[in-house]
Amino acid sequence: MVLVAQELPLMCLMLLLLCRESGVGAQPGQGFTLQQPQPKVTVAAGETLTLNCIASGIAGPGPVMWLKGWGSGNKTVYDQKNEDPSSRVTRAVPESDTDFTILIKNVQPEDMGTYYCVKFVRGSTGEDEVFRRGSGTEVSVQAKPSPPLVSGPEQRARPGQPVPFTCTAGGFFPDKIGVKWFKNSNPLGAQPPQVTEWKMKTYNMSSSAVVTLQKDDVRSQLTCEVTHSTLPAPLPGSYQLSRVLRVPPSIEVRAEPSPAEVNKTVTFTCLVKEFYPAEVSISWLENGTEIKGQNLSRPLELPLGLFELRSRVEVQATEEKNGSTITCTVVHDAQAPASSSAVLLISNPTQGGLSNEFQMDKGGNLRSSLLLLGMGILLEKGLLGGLLFFLFKRMNRKASEMLPYPAPPQFPAPAARSQGLATASSDV
Ligand SMILES: *[C@@H]1O[C@H](CO)[C@@H](O)[C@H](O)[C@H]1NC(C)=O
Ligand SMILES: *[C@@H]1O[C@H](CO)[C@@H](O)[C@H](O)[C@H]1NC(C)=O
Ligand SMILES: *[C@@H]1O[C@H](CO)[C@@H](O)[C@H](O)[C@H]1NC(C)=O
Repeated sequence: MVLVAQELPLMCLMLLLLCRESGVGAQPGQGFTLQQPQPKVTVAAGETLTLNCIASGIAGPGPVMWLKGWGSGNKTVYDQKNEDPSSRVTRAVPESDTDFTILIKNVQPEDMGTYYCVKFVRGSTGEDEVFRRGSGTEVSVQAKPSPPLVSGPEQRARPGQPVPFTCTAGGFFPDKIGVKWFKNSNPLGAQPPQVTEWKMKTYNMSSSAVVTLQKDDVRSQLTCEVTHSTLPAPLPGSYQLSRVLRVPPSIEVRAEPSPAEVNKTVTFTCLVKEFYPAEVSISWLENGTEIKGQNLSRPLELPLGLFELRSRVEVQATEEKNGSTITCTVVHDAQAPASSSAVLLISNPTQGGLSNEFQMDKGGNLRSSLLLLGMGILLEKGLLGGLLFFLFKRMNRKASEMLPYPAPPQFPAPAARSQGLATASSDV
């Protein structure tokens, strides 16, 4: 009977009822109908859902109820004879015998389903039995996605390294969602988001993008923007690229003055430039043994957000320290140490110009340069051979005392050479 009523128009049902009951006379239930005028309702999560139900005609004693679903798994949403004042379900017109419209506060995605307005009457066994039901209202609850969350790798990465980022948002319905990525205000390419069913009737999404970091990204921001039918405007989530960026410093050591006069003080300055984050520690070594230096300040922030730090050490230019290697070692952000060195040079008061040619440590190969030079000279100036060989031996010995070897001197042109060599030979 009930199934038939569902299929046939109302008029037909009325006719059927009249036919069957004609001759029996007016009885309870004659012409009784329950009307649910809303076949479908869409409501946003958190709002109040209104479900309309109007009864007309006369029926026997028994409550009107609202059920969610039919058959096994139905749930009683409202029971006229068992009202719960603490429930989020209330009557629109309390106590009415015809208007059974209900209001459901703070609707959630799990409230989705088909709701039936049902009239029960007491059956022969004394139990309430289904007498009539409305045609059902299908409720869909639209849920906003949670604000997108952008996550990056655990480890920092250097400029030039491609780094994957993930954007997630959840709890939305329906499942159609748009995701856009930006670095600062520039759009980034990304795969379409992956949408997965989450709790009952809601979805989660995950989107990935790869960003190649740059040195000047300390102040850059990554944005993931979500668009959904429930949102009046795109919903952004952001990530500061400084959280994953590591820019290793460049390191340079300068000696001042160089060369220095004997027993004067030489100041070695270590310039640690353009690094991020700011965590650095600097130590100094003199021929491999630690010496005490002093940082000139805390790291200074440069306009692009990178840092710079200077450290200084003073060394007494005693004669035996000539050729000592002074090394600045930098540990940046718990990474492997990096270093740079300069050589302490003491000018020879009697030698003047020549020693000026010896500059900072460039890891040169003085020994082989001198060997070639010496051979060239021997061939060119046979007469001076003996003297030059002696000089070569002398210089070679000096060079081997220095570690590492300084760059080869720029020897003067052949005409001037004999003069320079004569000067060098004067202190033999
Ligand atoms: C609702 O569910 C109960 C228990 O599962 C069942 O006994 C009852 O017949 C169902 N009612 C309807 C109207 O489907
Ligand atoms: C440098 O100092 C040392 C020790 O103090 C001294 O013996 C030497 O004569 C000094 N040399 C010069 C050139 O002043
Ligand atoms: C120090 O070493 C440089 C290079 O080896 C040399 O030219 C200079 O004469 C040396 N100075 C002294 C004072 O020995």
